[in-house]
Amino acid sequence: MWRRLGCVLSCSLVALRLSGLLFLKERTPTGSSKAHKHLWALPRPQHSQCPPNLAIANASLSLPSRHRLFLTYQHCRNFSTLLEPSECARDTFLLLAIKSQPHHIEQRAAIRSTWGRAGSWARGRQLKLVFLLGVAGPVPPAQLLAYESWQFDDILQWDFAEDFFNLTLKELHVQRWMAAACTQAHFVLKGDDDVFIHVPNVLEFLEGWDPAQDLLVGDVIRQARPNRNTKVKYFIPFSMYRARNYPPYAGGGGYVMSRATVRRLHTAMEEAELFPIDDVFVGMCLKKLGVSPIHHAGFKTFGIQKPLNPRDPCLYRGLLLVHRLSPLEMWTMWALVTDKRLKCAATP
Ligand SMILES: *[C@@H]1O[C@H](CO)[C@@H](O)[C@H](O)[C@H]1NC(C)=O
Ligand SMILES: *[C@@H]1O[C@H](CO)[C@@H](O)[C@H](O)[C@H]1NC(C)=O
Ligand SMILES: *[C@@H]1O[C@H](CO)[C@@H](O)[C@H](O)[C@H]1NC(C)=O
Repeated sequence: MWRRLGCVLSCSLVALRLSGLLFLKERTPTGSSKAHKHLWALPRPQHSQCPPNLAIANASLSLPSRHRLFLTYQHCRNFSTLLEPSECARDTFLLLAIKSQPHHIEQRAAIRSTWGRAGSWARGRQLKLVFLLGVAGPVPPAQLLAYESWQFDDILQWDFAEDFFNLTLKELHVQRWMAAACTQAHFVLKGDDDVFIHVPNVLEFLEGWDPAQDLLVGDVIRQARPNRNTKVKYFIPFSMYRARNYPPYAGGGGYVMSRATVRRLHTAMEEAELFPIDDVFVGMCLKKLGVSPIHHAGFKTFGIQKPLNPRDPCLYRGLLLVHRLSPLEMWTMWALVTDKRLKCAATP
């Protein structure tokens, strides 16, 4: 009797697996084209060999093909390091880990000579600036990056293609680098290379926090719905994520973590399956750890909204992080914000 029941169960499981095609088709979002439906209905690829490390992402691929590519190589998560900065100093207080791309040379130059510059304005705290890069086409040539790395000692580059869907690989690999070369940093700020970071305000905020306690603070997004529109960059098919909402997560433009949270996140990430949207991926790992991200209105990862003037330097004096500025705007804003003669009404 039990044996028969067991067979009924396992046999129907097999049948379910075999009919995976149908099964997936049912969960395909409505409104997508027939061609897309067909793609989403394909069984999940398994155990493909990892691509040769120097494979370059093909930007002209359509979204479904890029999702297929992501799924095909989802298990490939060990890429070698091409360029690496020196280790963090013993007394590093804040690590600034900034996602960049090989050709964003001007963005990096702007950051190095503005808020990324250690100095008197860092309130006597030791900062460490590191740029996180994958590989892109032949421009800029590898020699230029090697030169940049030699001159500024702040390039951390891995041998995977620079691609939106590969940002989660950056997340995982920077965790590995921190575990090997920057365990002592009290706090870590992860951000994009087009954010303006008011480092003194960030440092002032952190004075009240213990690096041994859990902390992840930023522009926290709650109850976000996975995007089911097949035409947008953030599209996620049901086969990749089923639940109605994402767990709370901090917008990837920039957020700050304590040393304790960085360490726990590393463990969780090593065990987690990669998800193509990097900030949501961090939110998923936080949920597993039972850590709630904290919202802070000073993180403007969606920029400053009208009717406020998004380029008012007085506004910047009261904020921690603003998205998004061109290199020229970064230099200009820096000059204005740090100008002692700038007269502002009481800070908001
Ligand atoms: C990129 O993808 C397009 C469309 O599938 C294809 O025609 C082209 O050959 C690919 N390019 C490379 C370099 O693989
Ligand atoms: C990646 O490296 C880890 C640890 O060395 C290993 O356990 C894992 O199997 C590797 N994964 C792949 C896909 O090579
Ligand atoms: C991620 O990087 C790998 C290794 O370079 C590459 O083969 C793959 O195409 C990239 N993924 C996407 C979705 O572009």
